[in-house]
Amino acid sequence: MAETMNVTSNHTKKKLFIHGEWIEGKEYSELRSPYNEEVIAEIPMATAEDVEQAIAAAEKAKKVMAKMPAFERANILETLARKLEERLDEAATIIALEAAKPITTAKGEVVRTIETYKFAAEEAKRIHGETISLDAAQGGVNRIGYTVREPIGVIGAITPFNFPMNLVAHKVGPAIAAGNTIVLKPATQTPLSAFFIAELLEEAGLPKGALNVVTGAGRVVGDKLVTDPRVSMITFTGSPSVGIGIRNKAGLKRVTLELGSNAAVIIDKNVNIDKIISRCVTGAFSNQGQVCISLQRIYAHEDVYDAFVEKFVEATKQLTLGDPMKPETDVSALISPSDVERTLSWIQEAKQSGAAIATGGVREGNIVHPTVILQADPQLKVSCQEVFAPIVLINKVQSVDEAIVFVNDSNYGLQAGIYTNDVHTALNAAEELHVGGVLINDIPTFRVDNMPYGGVKESGTGREGLKYAVEEMTEMKLVVWNRN
Ligand code: SIN
Repeated sequence: MAETMNVTSNHTKKKLFIHGEWIEGKEYSELRSPYNEEVIAEIPMATAEDVEQAIAAAEKAKKVMAKMPAFERANILETLARKLEERLDEAATIIALEAAKPITTAKGEVVRTIETYKFAAEEAKRIHGETISLDAAQGGVNRIGYTVREPIGVIGAITPFNFPMNLVAHKVGPAIAAGNTIVLKPATQTPLSAFFIAELLEEAGLPKGALNVVTGAGRVVGDKLVTDPRVSMITFTGSPSVGIGIRNKAGLKRVTLELGSNAAVIIDKNVNIDKIISRCVTGAFSNQGQVCISLQRIYAHEDVYDAFVEKFVEATKQLTLGDPMKPETDVSALISPSDVERTLSWIQEAKQSGAAIATGGVREGNIVHPTVILQADPQLKVSCQEVFAPIVLINKVQSVDEAIVFVNDSNYGLQAGIYTNDVHTALNAAEELHVGGVLINDIPTFRVDNMPYGGVKESGTGREGLKYAVEEMTEMKLVVWNRN
Protein backbone atom coordinates (compact mmCIF):
# COMPACT_ATOMS: atom_id res chain seq x y z
CA MET A 1 0.00 0.00 0.00
CA ALA A 2 3.01 2.33 0.54
CA GLU A 3 3.70 2.18 -3.18
CA THR A 4 0.08 3.15 -3.82
CA MET A 5 0.41 6.20 -1.61
CA ASN A 6 3.44 7.43 -3.58
CA VAL A 7 1.68 7.13 -6.87
CA THR A 8 -1.46 8.94 -5.79
CA SER A 9 -0.07 11.55 -3.45
CA ASN A 10 2.25 12.87 -6.18
CA HIS A 11 -0.44 13.01 -8.81
CA THR A 12 -3.72 13.70 -7.05
CA LYS A 13 -5.08 16.49 -9.24
CA LYS A 14 -4.38 15.63 -12.85
CA LYS A 15 -4.11 18.02 -15.79
CA LEU A 16 -4.94 17.82 -19.47
CA PHE A 17 -1.96 17.48 -21.81
CA ILE A 18 -2.40 19.83 -24.75
CA HIS A 19 0.33 21.18 -27.04
CA GLY A 20 3.04 20.00 -24.69
CA GLU A 21 1.53 21.88 -21.71
CA TRP A 22 -0.17 20.49 -18.62
CA ILE A 23 -3.41 22.44 -18.34
CA GLU A 24 -5.71 22.65 -15.34
CA GLY A 25 -9.27 21.51 -16.03
CA LYS A 26 -12.24 23.84 -15.54
CA GLU A 27 -14.17 20.99 -13.98
CA TYR A 28 -13.04 17.86 -12.16
CA SER A 29 -14.47 14.47 -11.42
CA GLU A 30 -13.37 12.04 -8.72
CA LEU A 31 -11.64 8.84 -9.77
CA ARG A 32 -12.34 5.96 -7.39
CA SER A 33 -10.61 2.64 -6.88
CA PRO A 34 -12.86 -0.09 -8.31
CA TYR A 35 -11.73 -2.32 -5.42
CA ASN A 36 -12.43 -0.22 -2.32
CA GLU A 37 -14.11 2.85 -3.90
CA GLU A 38 -11.63 5.26 -2.26
CA VAL A 39 -10.88 8.44 -4.19
CA ILE A 40 -7.51 8.01 -5.91
CA ALA A 41 -7.31 11.12 -8.08
CA GLU A 42 -9.23 14.06 -9.48
CA ILE A 43 -9.58 13.98 -13.23
CA PRO A 44 -10.14 17.02 -15.45
CA MET A 45 -13.31 16.93 -17.52
CA ALA A 46 -12.34 18.53 -20.83
CA THR A 47 -14.66 21.17 -22.25
CA ALA A 48 -15.45 21.57 -25.95
CA GLU A 49 -12.87 24.37 -26.00
CA ASP A 50 -10.17 22.06 -24.55
CA VAL A 51 -10.87 19.45 -27.23
CA GLU A 52 -10.76 22.16 -29.89
CA GLN A 53 -7.33 23.22 -28.63
CA ALA A 54 -6.09 19.63 -28.55
CA ILE A 55 -7.13 19.05 -32.16
CA ALA A 56 -5.63 22.39 -33.22
CA ALA A 57 -2.36 21.42 -31.48
CA ALA A 58 -2.29 18.03 -33.23
CA GLU A 59 -3.06 19.72 -36.55
CA LYS A 60 -0.23 22.21 -36.01
CA ALA A 61 2.26 19.45 -35.13
CA LYS A 62 1.33 17.41 -38.20
CA LYS A 63 4.06 18.85 -40.43
CA VAL A 64 6.79 18.46 -37.80
CA MET A 65 5.93 14.79 -37.32
CA ALA A 66 5.53 14.08 -41.03
CA LYS A 67 8.98 15.56 -41.72
CA MET A 68 10.70 13.85 -38.78
CA PRO A 69 13.12 11.18 -40.05
CA ALA A 70 12.29 7.57 -39.23
CA PHE A 71 15.36 7.14 -37.02
CA GLU A 72 14.23 10.03 -34.82
CA ARG A 73 10.72 8.64 -34.46
CA ALA A 74 12.26 5.29 -33.58
CA ASN A 75 14.57 6.96 -31.04
CA ILE A 76 11.65 8.60 -29.25
CA LEU A 77 9.82 5.28 -29.02
CA GLU A 78 12.93 3.42 -27.85
CA THR A 79 13.57 6.09 -25.20
CA LEU A 80 9.98 5.74 -24.01
CA ALA A 81 10.40 1.96 -23.75
CA ARG A 82 13.60 2.43 -21.73
CA LYS A 83 11.97 4.91 -19.35
CA LEU A 84 9.06 2.57 -18.83
CA GLU A 85 11.47 -0.27 -18.05
CA GLU A 86 13.07 1.92 -15.37
CA ARG A 87 9.66 2.68 -13.83
CA LEU A 88 8.02 -0.68 -14.33
CA ASP A 89 6.84 -1.12 -10.72
CA GLU A 90 5.36 2.37 -10.58
CA ALA A 91 3.55 1.82 -13.89
CA ALA A 92 2.12 -1.51 -12.69
CA THR A 93 0.93 0.10 -9.46
CA ILE A 94 -0.95 2.75 -11.43
CA ILE A 95 -2.71 0.05 -13.48
CA ALA A 96 -3.55 -2.02 -10.40
CA LEU A 97 -4.86 1.02 -8.61
CA GLU A 98 -7.11 2.47 -11.29
CA ALA A 99 -8.26 -0.78 -12.98
CA ALA A 100 -8.14 -3.22 -10.01
CA LYS A 101 -5.99 -5.42 -12.21
CA PRO A 102 -4.11 -7.80 -9.89
CA ILE A 103 -0.57 -6.45 -9.53
CA THR A 104 1.14 -9.52 -10.97
CA THR A 105 -1.02 -9.29 -14.10
CA ALA A 106 -0.50 -5.51 -14.16
CA LYS A 107 3.28 -6.06 -14.24
CA GLY A 108 2.72 -8.40 -17.17
CA GLU A 109 0.84 -5.62 -18.93
CA VAL A 110 3.72 -3.18 -18.42
CA VAL A 111 6.20 -5.74 -19.79
CA ARG A 112 3.97 -6.08 -22.86
CA THR A 113 3.67 -2.29 -23.18
CA ILE A 114 7.46 -1.96 -23.25
CA GLU A 115 7.59 -4.58 -26.00
CA THR A 116 4.80 -2.85 -27.93
CA TYR A 117 6.76 0.43 -28.01
CA LYS A 118 9.92 -1.46 -29.02
CA PHE A 119 8.04 -3.09 -31.89
CA ALA A 120 6.71 0.34 -32.85
CA ALA A 121 10.26 1.71 -32.92
CA GLU A 122 11.34 -1.13 -35.22
CA GLU A 123 8.32 -0.63 -37.44
CA ALA A 124 9.11 3.09 -37.84
CA LYS A 125 12.26 2.03 -39.72
CA ARG A 126 10.57 -0.24 -42.23
CA ILE A 127 7.68 1.71 -43.66
CA HIS A 128 7.95 1.33 -47.41
CA GLY A 129 6.02 1.00 -50.62
CA GLU A 130 6.67 -1.11 -53.73
CA THR A 131 7.51 -0.69 -57.37
CA ILE A 132 4.67 -1.30 -59.79
CA SER A 133 5.13 -2.94 -63.21
CA LEU A 134 3.16 -0.31 -65.09
CA ASP A 135 4.28 -1.78 -68.43
CA ALA A 136 2.10 -4.81 -67.72
CA ALA A 137 -0.62 -2.57 -69.20
CA GLN A 138 -0.29 -1.45 -72.81
CA GLY A 139 -0.74 2.17 -71.81
CA GLY A 140 1.96 1.95 -69.12
CA VAL A 141 5.02 1.34 -71.31
CA ASN A 142 8.00 3.58 -70.52
CA ARG A 143 6.68 4.62 -67.18
CA ILE A 144 8.12 3.89 -63.75
CA GLY A 145 5.70 3.56 -60.85
CA TYR A 146 6.20 3.18 -57.16
CA THR A 147 4.20 3.67 -54.00
CA VAL A 148 5.13 5.40 -50.77
CA ARG A 149 3.27 5.37 -47.47
CA GLU A 150 2.56 8.77 -45.94
CA PRO A 151 1.25 9.56 -42.46
CA ILE A 152 -2.53 9.89 -42.39
CA GLY A 153 -2.38 13.04 -40.18
CA VAL A 154 -4.28 13.63 -36.95
CA ILE A 155 -5.52 10.44 -35.30
CA GLY A 156 -8.25 10.37 -32.66
CA ALA A 157 -7.55 7.44 -30.32
CA ILE A 158 -10.23 6.24 -27.90
CA THR A 159 -9.02 3.55 -25.51
CA PRO A 160 -10.68 1.19 -23.01
CA PHE A 161 -10.13 0.50 -19.30
CA ASN A 162 -9.10 -3.16 -19.45
CA PHE A 163 -5.51 -2.70 -20.68
CA PRO A 164 -5.07 0.99 -19.86
CA MET A 165 -1.38 1.07 -20.75
CA ASN A 166 -0.91 -1.49 -23.50
CA LEU A 167 -3.99 -0.57 -25.51
CA VAL A 168 -2.87 3.07 -25.41
CA ALA A 169 0.49 1.77 -26.70
CA HIS A 170 -1.26 -0.03 -29.55
CA LYS A 171 -2.59 3.31 -30.75
CA VAL A 172 0.09 5.82 -29.75
CA GLY A 173 3.04 3.55 -30.74
CA PRO A 174 2.15 2.95 -34.40
CA ALA A 175 0.79 6.49 -34.79
CA ILE A 176 4.18 7.96 -33.82
CA ALA A 177 6.06 5.29 -35.78
CA ALA A 178 4.18 6.37 -38.91
CA GLY A 179 4.72 10.12 -38.30
CA ASN A 180 1.19 11.04 -37.21
CA THR A 181 -0.12 13.18 -34.38
CA ILE A 182 -2.66 12.04 -31.82
CA VAL A 183 -5.49 13.24 -29.64
CA LEU A 184 -6.00 10.52 -27.06
CA LYS A 185 -9.15 10.05 -25.03
CA PRO A 186 -8.43 7.36 -22.45
CA ALA A 187 -11.24 5.49 -20.69
CA THR A 188 -12.89 7.61 -17.98
CA GLN A 189 -12.20 4.84 -15.44
CA THR A 190 -8.46 4.54 -16.22
CA PRO A 191 -6.89 7.85 -17.28
CA LEU A 192 -3.83 7.66 -14.99
CA SER A 193 -1.92 5.21 -17.19
CA ALA A 194 -2.39 7.50 -20.19
CA PHE A 195 -1.17 10.58 -18.29
CA PHE A 196 1.86 8.59 -17.12
CA ILE A 197 2.76 7.64 -20.71
CA ALA A 198 2.31 11.27 -21.82
CA GLU A 199 4.81 12.35 -19.13
CA LEU A 200 7.33 9.78 -20.35
CA LEU A 201 6.85 10.77 -23.99
CA GLU A 202 7.37 14.41 -23.09
CA GLU A 203 10.65 13.44 -21.39
CA ALA A 204 11.56 11.31 -24.41
CA GLY A 205 11.46 14.42 -26.61
CA LEU A 206 8.18 14.06 -28.51
CA PRO A 207 7.44 17.43 -30.18
CA LYS A 208 4.74 19.64 -28.69
CA GLY A 209 1.26 18.78 -29.94
CA ALA A 210 2.23 15.36 -31.31
CA LEU A 211 0.36 13.74 -28.43
CA ASN A 212 -2.53 15.39 -26.60
CA VAL A 213 -4.45 13.69 -23.80
CA VAL A 214 -7.97 14.86 -23.09
CA THR A 215 -10.08 13.19 -20.45
CA GLY A 216 -13.79 13.66 -20.00
CA ALA A 217 -17.22 12.70 -21.21
CA GLY A 218 -17.62 10.75 -24.43
CA ARG A 219 -20.26 13.12 -25.74
CA VAL A 220 -17.88 16.09 -25.37
CA VAL A 221 -14.50 14.58 -26.27
CA GLY A 222 -15.35 11.49 -28.34
CA ASP A 223 -18.07 13.11 -30.44
CA LYS A 224 -15.85 16.06 -31.35
CA LEU A 225 -12.96 13.76 -32.35
CA VAL A 226 -15.25 11.63 -34.49
CA THR A 227 -16.89 14.55 -36.31
CA ASP A 228 -14.07 17.10 -36.63
CA PRO A 229 -12.80 17.26 -40.24
CA ARG A 230 -9.18 17.81 -39.15
CA VAL A 231 -9.10 14.35 -37.60
CA SER A 232 -8.34 11.87 -40.40
CA MET A 233 -8.72 8.62 -38.52
CA ILE A 234 -10.38 7.19 -35.45
CA THR A 235 -8.93 4.15 -33.75
CA PHE A 236 -11.28 2.80 -31.10
CA THR A 237 -11.35 -0.16 -28.73
CA GLY A 238 -14.53 -0.66 -26.75
CA SER A 239 -18.12 -1.81 -26.98
CA PRO A 240 -19.91 -2.67 -30.25
CA SER A 241 -22.68 -0.13 -29.61
CA VAL A 242 -20.19 2.76 -29.25
CA GLY A 243 -18.10 1.42 -32.16
CA ILE A 244 -21.09 1.26 -34.49
CA GLY A 245 -22.07 4.79 -33.41
CA ILE A 246 -18.55 6.00 -34.29
CA ARG A 247 -18.68 4.31 -37.68
CA ASN A 248 -22.03 5.94 -38.44
CA LYS A 249 -20.83 9.42 -37.51
CA ALA A 250 -17.29 9.28 -38.91
CA GLY A 251 -18.15 9.83 -42.58
CA LEU A 252 -15.10 9.29 -44.78
CA LYS A 253 -12.59 9.12 -41.95
CA ARG A 254 -10.64 5.91 -41.69
CA VAL A 255 -11.94 3.94 -38.72
CA THR A 256 -10.50 0.91 -37.00
CA LEU A 257 -12.68 -0.75 -34.40
CA GLU A 258 -11.78 -3.48 -31.93
CA LEU A 259 -15.05 -4.39 -30.29
CA GLY A 260 -14.80 -7.55 -28.23
CA SER A 261 -16.39 -10.96 -28.40
CA ASN A 262 -17.77 -14.01 -26.61
CA ALA A 263 -14.68 -16.05 -27.44
CA ALA A 264 -14.83 -19.85 -27.44
CA VAL A 265 -12.62 -22.92 -27.31
CA ILE A 266 -13.42 -26.41 -28.58
CA ILE A 267 -12.02 -29.47 -26.79
CA ASP A 268 -11.89 -32.59 -28.91
CA LYS A 269 -12.02 -36.17 -27.64
CA ASN A 270 -8.69 -37.76 -26.66
CA VAL A 271 -7.23 -34.44 -25.53
CA ASN A 272 -5.11 -34.65 -22.38
CA ILE A 273 -7.33 -32.64 -20.06
CA ASP A 274 -4.74 -32.32 -17.30
CA LYS A 275 -2.44 -30.43 -19.63
CA ILE A 276 -4.97 -27.73 -20.52
CA ILE A 277 -6.96 -27.03 -17.34
CA SER A 278 -4.74 -24.35 -15.88
CA ARG A 279 -4.47 -22.52 -19.21
CA CYS A 280 -8.26 -22.58 -19.66
CA VAL A 281 -8.83 -21.26 -16.13
CA THR A 282 -6.38 -18.41 -16.77
CA GLY A 283 -8.10 -17.60 -20.08
CA ALA A 284 -11.49 -17.42 -18.40
CA PHE A 285 -10.66 -15.41 -15.28
CA SER A 286 -7.55 -13.34 -15.95
CA ASN A 287 -8.29 -9.65 -15.30
CA GLN A 288 -11.71 -10.75 -14.00
CA GLY A 289 -12.67 -11.81 -17.53
CA GLN A 290 -12.48 -8.19 -18.70
CA VAL A 291 -10.54 -9.07 -21.84
CA CYS A 292 -12.00 -8.96 -25.36
CA ILE A 293 -10.69 -12.48 -26.01
CA SER A 294 -11.51 -13.81 -22.56
CA LEU A 295 -12.53 -17.45 -22.69
CA GLN A 296 -16.31 -17.26 -22.31
CA ARG A 297 -17.59 -20.44 -23.98
CA ILE A 298 -16.10 -23.92 -23.78
CA TYR A 299 -17.46 -26.72 -25.98
CA ALA A 300 -16.11 -30.05 -24.72
CA HIS A 301 -16.55 -33.38 -26.50
CA GLU A 302 -18.87 -35.73 -24.58
CA ASP A 303 -15.98 -38.21 -24.07
CA VAL A 304 -14.02 -35.68 -21.99
CA TYR A 305 -16.81 -33.40 -20.72
CA ASP A 306 -17.29 -34.81 -17.19
CA ALA A 307 -13.58 -35.03 -16.42
CA PHE A 308 -12.99 -31.55 -17.81
CA VAL A 309 -15.81 -29.99 -15.78
CA GLU A 310 -14.68 -31.63 -12.56
CA LYS A 311 -11.06 -30.55 -12.91
CA PHE A 312 -11.92 -27.08 -14.20
CA VAL A 313 -14.25 -26.36 -11.29
CA GLU A 314 -11.70 -27.68 -8.82
CA ALA A 315 -8.98 -25.42 -10.25
CA THR A 316 -11.34 -22.43 -10.30
CA LYS A 317 -12.01 -22.84 -6.57
CA GLN A 318 -8.25 -22.56 -5.93
CA LEU A 319 -8.08 -18.97 -7.28
CA THR A 320 -7.22 -16.28 -4.74
CA LEU A 321 -9.65 -13.35 -4.64
CA GLY A 322 -8.89 -9.99 -3.11
CA ASP A 323 -6.85 -6.81 -3.08
CA PRO A 324 -5.29 -6.04 -6.48
CA MET A 325 -2.15 -4.78 -4.73
CA LYS A 326 -1.35 -8.21 -3.26
CA PRO A 327 0.93 -10.36 -5.43
CA GLU A 328 -1.01 -13.53 -4.64
CA THR A 329 -4.35 -12.14 -5.91
CA ASP A 330 -5.70 -13.80 -9.05
CA VAL A 331 -9.12 -12.14 -9.24
CA SER A 332 -10.13 -8.72 -7.95
CA ALA A 333 -12.94 -6.23 -8.44
CA LEU A 334 -14.87 -5.51 -11.61
CA ILE A 335 -14.37 -2.04 -13.00
CA SER A 336 -17.61 -0.61 -11.53
CA PRO A 337 -20.42 -1.52 -9.14
CA SER A 338 -22.88 -1.34 -12.04
CA ASP A 339 -20.88 -4.04 -13.84
CA VAL A 340 -21.15 -6.20 -10.73
CA GLU A 341 -24.95 -5.75 -10.77
CA ARG A 342 -25.17 -6.50 -14.49
CA THR A 343 -23.04 -9.62 -14.13
CA LEU A 344 -25.13 -10.98 -11.27
CA SER A 345 -28.36 -10.34 -13.17
CA TRP A 346 -27.02 -12.27 -16.17
CA ILE A 347 -26.06 -15.17 -13.89
CA GLN A 348 -29.56 -15.02 -12.38
CA GLU A 349 -31.09 -15.23 -15.87
CA ALA A 350 -28.97 -18.33 -16.58
CA LYS A 351 -30.04 -19.93 -13.29
CA GLN A 352 -33.70 -19.27 -14.00
CA SER A 353 -33.38 -20.88 -17.42
CA GLY A 354 -32.21 -24.12 -15.77
CA ALA A 355 -28.46 -23.85 -16.36
CA ALA A 356 -26.35 -25.20 -13.48
CA ILE A 357 -23.98 -22.90 -11.59
CA ALA A 358 -21.09 -25.24 -10.77
CA THR A 359 -19.25 -22.62 -8.72
CA GLY A 360 -19.38 -18.86 -8.09
CA GLY A 361 -22.39 -16.70 -8.84
CA VAL A 362 -21.95 -14.51 -5.76
CA ARG A 363 -20.24 -11.21 -4.94
CA GLU A 364 -17.92 -10.05 -2.19
CA GLY A 365 -17.82 -6.26 -2.34
CA ASN A 366 -17.10 -5.47 -5.97
CA ILE A 367 -15.55 -8.87 -6.64
CA VAL A 368 -17.70 -11.41 -8.45
CA HIS A 369 -16.57 -14.94 -7.64
CA PRO A 370 -15.26 -16.81 -10.70
CA THR A 371 -18.40 -18.46 -12.05
CA VAL A 372 -18.74 -21.67 -14.05
CA ILE A 373 -22.10 -22.27 -15.76
CA LEU A 374 -22.96 -25.65 -17.27
CA GLN A 375 -25.18 -26.40 -20.25
CA ALA A 376 -26.24 -22.80 -20.87
CA ASP A 377 -28.77 -22.12 -23.59
CA PRO A 378 -27.35 -20.20 -26.60
CA GLN A 379 -30.03 -17.48 -26.26
CA LEU A 380 -28.92 -16.45 -22.76
CA LYS A 381 -27.03 -13.19 -22.29
CA VAL A 382 -24.08 -15.11 -20.79
CA SER A 383 -23.88 -17.05 -24.06
CA CYS A 384 -24.59 -14.59 -26.81
CA GLN A 385 -23.35 -11.27 -25.40
CA GLU A 386 -19.88 -10.29 -24.26
CA VAL A 387 -19.89 -10.89 -20.47
CA PHE A 388 -16.67 -8.97 -19.66
CA ALA A 389 -16.76 -10.56 -16.21
CA PRO A 390 -15.44 -13.75 -14.57
CA ILE A 391 -17.99 -16.10 -16.10
CA VAL A 392 -17.35 -19.13 -18.28
CA LEU A 393 -19.80 -21.63 -19.80
CA ILE A 394 -19.01 -25.29 -20.38
CA ASN A 395 -21.31 -27.10 -22.79
CA LYS A 396 -21.24 -30.71 -23.97
CA VAL A 397 -21.01 -31.48 -27.72
CA GLN A 398 -21.05 -34.72 -29.70
CA SER A 399 -18.49 -33.66 -32.27
CA VAL A 400 -16.12 -30.88 -33.26
CA ASP A 401 -18.38 -30.13 -36.23
CA GLU A 402 -21.28 -29.48 -33.87
CA ALA A 403 -19.04 -27.24 -31.73
CA ILE A 404 -17.95 -25.22 -34.77
CA VAL A 405 -21.61 -24.46 -35.51
CA PHE A 406 -22.06 -23.19 -31.91
CA VAL A 407 -18.88 -21.09 -32.03
CA ASN A 408 -19.93 -19.49 -35.30
CA ASP A 409 -23.46 -18.87 -34.04
CA SER A 410 -22.41 -15.51 -32.62
CA ASN A 411 -22.61 -11.85 -33.57
CA TYR A 412 -18.90 -11.70 -32.75
CA GLY A 413 -15.79 -13.16 -34.34
CA LEU A 414 -12.53 -12.10 -32.72
CA GLN A 415 -10.54 -15.26 -31.90
CA ALA A 416 -11.38 -18.94 -31.27
CA GLY A 417 -9.33 -21.90 -30.10
CA ILE A 418 -9.40 -25.64 -30.56
CA TYR A 419 -7.58 -28.40 -28.70
CA THR A 420 -7.27 -31.55 -30.81
CA ASN A 421 -4.77 -34.29 -31.59
CA ASP A 422 -6.03 -34.67 -35.13
CA VAL A 423 -4.32 -32.53 -37.76
CA HIS A 424 -7.26 -32.79 -40.18
CA THR A 425 -9.69 -31.63 -37.50
CA ALA A 426 -7.38 -28.70 -36.75
CA LEU A 427 -7.03 -27.72 -40.41
CA ASN A 428 -10.77 -27.96 -40.91
CA ALA A 429 -11.45 -25.80 -37.83
CA ALA A 430 -8.95 -23.18 -39.04
CA GLU A 431 -10.93 -23.00 -42.26
CA GLU A 432 -14.45 -23.13 -40.83
CA LEU A 433 -14.22 -20.85 -37.80
CA HIS A 434 -15.45 -17.39 -38.76
CA VAL A 435 -13.10 -15.23 -36.66
CA GLY A 436 -10.08 -12.95 -37.01
CA GLY A 437 -7.68 -15.49 -35.45
CA VAL A 438 -7.76 -19.26 -34.87
CA LEU A 439 -5.59 -20.78 -32.15
CA ILE A 440 -4.73 -24.45 -32.59
CA ASN A 441 -4.07 -26.24 -29.32
CA ASP A 442 -4.59 -23.07 -27.34
CA ILE A 443 -7.33 -20.91 -25.87
CA PRO A 444 -8.55 -17.82 -27.77
CA THR A 445 -7.04 -15.66 -25.01
CA PHE A 446 -3.67 -15.44 -26.73
CA ARG A 447 -2.12 -12.22 -27.92
CA VAL A 448 1.43 -11.12 -28.44
CA ASP A 449 1.78 -7.58 -29.60
CA ASN A 450 3.28 -7.95 -33.05
CA MET A 451 0.61 -10.31 -34.37
CA PRO A 452 -2.39 -9.10 -36.40
CA TYR A 453 -5.27 -8.66 -33.99
CA GLY A 454 -8.84 -7.85 -34.86
CA GLY A 455 -12.14 -9.42 -35.72
CA VAL A 456 -15.00 -9.99 -38.08
CA LYS A 457 -18.72 -9.33 -37.64
CA GLU A 458 -19.44 -7.18 -34.55
CA SER A 459 -15.91 -7.74 -33.28
CA GLY A 460 -14.81 -4.88 -35.48
CA THR A 461 -12.89 -3.81 -38.54
CA GLY A 462 -9.19 -3.33 -39.22
CA ARG A 463 -6.22 -4.91 -37.48
CA GLU A 464 -3.87 -3.92 -34.68
CA GLY A 465 -0.36 -5.31 -34.19
CA LEU A 466 2.34 -2.81 -35.07
CA LYS A 467 2.95 -3.61 -38.73
CA TYR A 468 -0.78 -3.82 -39.43
CA ALA A 469 -1.65 -0.72 -37.43
CA VAL A 470 1.02 1.24 -39.31
CA GLU A 471 -0.66 0.18 -42.56
CA GLU A 472 -3.99 1.44 -41.23
CA MET A 473 -2.37 4.70 -40.08
CA THR A 474 -0.72 5.57 -43.40
CA GLU A 475 -2.03 6.56 -46.83
CA MET A 476 -0.61 4.90 -49.91
CA LYS A 477 0.54 7.36 -52.55
CA LEU A 478 1.44 6.37 -56.11
CA VAL A 479 4.26 8.13 -57.97
CA VAL A 480 4.56 7.67 -61.74
CA TRP A 481 7.54 8.84 -63.86
CA ASN A 482 7.00 9.25 -67.56
CA ARG A 483 10.19 8.42 -69.52
CA ASN A 484 8.65 9.13 -72.96
C1 SIN B 1 -8.38 -6.70 -25.58
O1 SIN B 1 -9.04 -6.93 -24.57
O2 SIN B 1 -8.86 -6.32 -26.64
C2 SIN B 1 -6.90 -6.84 -25.58
C3 SIN B 1 -6.43 -8.17 -25.26
C4 SIN B 1 -4.94 -8.18 -25.13
O3 SIN B 1 -4.28 -7.27 -25.59
O4 SIN B 1 -4.41 -9.15 -24.57
